[in-house]
Parts: sequence; structure tokens; C-alpha cells
Amino acid sequence: MSRDRFPDDFLFGAATSAYQIEGAWNEDGKGESIWDRFAHIPGTIEDGSTGDIACDHVHRLDEDVSLMSELGLDAYRLSISWPRVLPKGTGTVNEGGFAFYDRLVDALLERGIRPFVTLYHWDLPQALQDAGGWPARDTIDAFCEYADIVSRRLGDRIVDWITLNEPVVSAFIGHYEGHHAPGHRDEREALATVHHLLLAHGRSVPILRENSPAADVGITLVLQPGHAASPSDHDRLAARKLDGTMNRTFLDPLSGRGYPLEVIYDRTILASCVEPGDLEEIAVPLDFLGVNYYTRYVVRSDVVEEAGNAPRTVQAREETTGMGWEIYPEGLREVFDMLQTDYAFPAYYITESGAAYPDEVDESGSVCDRDRVEYLRRHLEEVLRITRTGVPLRGHFVWSLLDNFEWSHGLSKRFGLVHVDFETLARLPKASFEWYKRVIAEREVLDSDAIAGFRRNDT
Ligand code: FCB
Repeated sequence: MSRDRFPDDFLFGAATSAYQIEGAWNEDGKGESIWDRFAHIPGTIEDGSTGDIACDHVHRLDEDVSLMSELGLDAYRLSISWPRVLPKGTGTVNEGGFAFYDRLVDALLERGIRPFVTLYHWDLPQALQDAGGWPARDTIDAFCEYADIVSRRLGDRIVDWITLNEPVVSAFIGHYEGHHAPGHRDEREALATVHHLLLAHGRSVPILRENSPAADVGITLVLQPGHAASPSDHDRLAARKLDGTMNRTFLDPLSGRGYPLEVIYDRTILASCVEPGDLEEIAVPLDFLGVNYYTRYVVRSDVVEEAGNAPRTVQAREETTGMGWEIYPEGLREVFDMLQTDYAFPAYYITESGAAYPDEVDESGSVCDRDRVEYLRRHLEEVLRITRTGVPLRGHFVWSLLDNFEWSHGLSKRFGLVHVDFETLARLPKASFEWYKRVIAEREVLDSDAIAGFRRNDT
């Protein structure tokens, strides 16, 4: 094998999530989710859009799977909408919901695309929110019932299961900052949510293994290195605390070390949620860790220079994506160094990596998204380097297959390899699609010149 090529069994994938693409929000017996409720409240979503239709994937499944097949994907990461299969969160099963996921999974398998299924990508059934949501410990039982039902139905065909996507975001953006559903601003709720999500994860892993005999089970975390803005004690402490809260609050308990109470904010509330035996259940061994990677943090303490803090010496670079996130590909290496040194999970996937740009369809009817190609190229170079150092990094999923509903930003941020016209719902593969297709076929990182003169306007 050439040093420049990815290992033959490395999986090239793309990712989406249910609420962001499916649409059909109230069809075929689907129940309401907290995102349906939240997005319908005026003022919550920047551009006033909702996920009611999103990419209309539920009605365009065949076309979307054909695009994945044309792209040559080895794997596709999707999430199940909990209220589509269990409208009230527990109890009655919605057969219409399972009919859709059965069709999707079968269509993927027919084309040789390995489905990675995420159980929870933030769309809690509203009925469970009404009963207290994640801050209530009972929601853990509901999640286990859901995991049991889904894995009984799909466990014969699914190998790769991801329990939760980015619990840090559900907990803090949903319950502390209030910019995501359910839109609460309450520290106690946020910290209880951290613990209950992790416990729901830990308790569901044995259920998935029981029902899905070939299962490989993991969890997906978003990991971002935290760099101190100066070498001062103030900034270094602030960076440690941020890393503690955003990264290690999840990594440590998953690895059997309990919560890193000394480096996180608000330790007493979190500690008060823990009951005997919880930490053991959370630490159930995993088959893999899913890593979402977008950027890093440069952390400045609240203590200002005039009050004794050192001058800032580390600056975020000016180069950012359309989300305003600094482009920092080296951070991937830093994340994997940290993971291997401090945790050593048995395997890893990069379950999301990608960038939003304000793409436009040009006069020729094509989308030539060179910025995205460059972003992906630089990150994949890092991924290749990491695999060469012997890290068991088994695959990489681009976020996202399709332009979609980017949570509180609505339809205004485009992350797709495929452009979606949200008026007509027409799909149009971008230059990045063509580039990634060639990367997958050749299993090496190509220059962005590989798509020079790109034209595609055939849909
Ligand atoms: C991640 C989410 C994903 C998408 C990307 C841009 O945090 O998991 O759904 O919104 O960010």
C-alpha cells in the first residue's frame, strides 16, 4: 500500500441527521419532537424557517440513496427520529415510521453502503419533554425502551450503532444557552441532562448488543482543543476549565474515571445527580468513539490585562468558514494525540467534518465550491497522517451529504456536498461532491485542481 493512500478498509462516508433532512414532520403517524415545537416558535430560528419540509428526504429517499451510490460512499451515517417510530416516546409503535427506516436501510445495503445509525441526534419526543425531558431521570428508561425497539427491528441489518450525538450540545445549548430545543436557560437542568444522557447511553449499550448480535457500539462527541490565549496562569486555567467542561466531562466518565470535577465549572450540581452505580454503567466498554471535529477554542480568561492577566499571544486565525468557525485542521491531530495519550479507545471514526459556505449556483448552473474542497482537502490530509501513526481511525464522514436545516441558523447555512434548492427541492451535486467521489475512488487526498473546470447542471 502506498504511503499516500488510505488503508483499503478505511470507510469514506457522509452524514446527516433526521430532523435536519427528513421533513414530513407530521405525516404517517409521526409524533412531535422538541425541535418541531421549538422551530415553530417565532424568533427561535434565524431565518424563520423550520424543519417541516427540510430536504423532504422522506419522500426522496430513492433519489438520495442514488446520489450516495454515485458518490461511491462506503458508509452513510443517519439518525432515527425517535418520535417517528414512537410518537409519544414510549408505548405505541408507529409502523409507518419503521416502514420508512426499513426501506432506507434496505436501499443502502442493496447498494453496498454500510449504515451507521445514530439513535439520538437531539429530537426528543415532545411528550417526553412535557414529562420533564432529559433533566428528569425517567427519560433514561424511555430511551432504553426506544433503543430496545429500534434494535429489535433493525438489529439484523445494522452493525454500527451510535447512541448519542454530541451530548454537550443537547445539554448546554439546549438547556443552558437556550438556543436549541427545548430552549431552556437553567444550569441545574443542563447538568442533570449531561448525567442522564450519559447514563442513557451506558444503559442502552448492552441492549443494543443483545438485540443486534454483530453490533459495534459507540457514542459521538464533538471535540475541540482549548488553547490558552496567553501563557498566563489565568488563561491556562480558563482553557483547562473549558476543556474540562466541553470535552472531559464526557470523555472521563466514558472511560471509567468519573467526572473531572476539579476542572469543570459547577461541580456540586453535577455531583448531586450521581447515584450509586451510575458511573459504572456509564463506563461500559465501547467498540469505538465517534469524533465530530470542526474547530478549536482560543480561551481568554475573564481577568483582563489591566487587572493582571498577560497580553494575549495566541490569536484565532482570520480564516473562518461560513459559521465564523476558525479553520484549524491541525486540531484533528491534537485531538487524536490527546485521545491516544489519555484514553486510548479501541477504535475511532470521524463521524462529522465539514464546512458551511454561502454557495451559489453560477451562470452555468453549477456550484463550484472550491472553499469546501480546500477545507476537506486540508482536513483529510490530517486524517491520513493520523492513520499512518497507527491510531485505529477507521473512517471519515463528511458533514453533510445534503444542504440542510442547520438548527438555529435554519436553512441559511449550507454544509452539503449536494446543493438543495429549498424552493423546488432539486438536488445538484457540487464540485466538492465530484472531488470527494474521486478521493473515494482513488483512496487518496487529491489536489483541488482535480475539479478544475467543473460543470454540473444536469438536474
Ligand atoms: C454538529 C451537529 C450537526 C451539524 C453540524 C454542523 O454539531 O452534530 O447536526 O449541525 O454540527
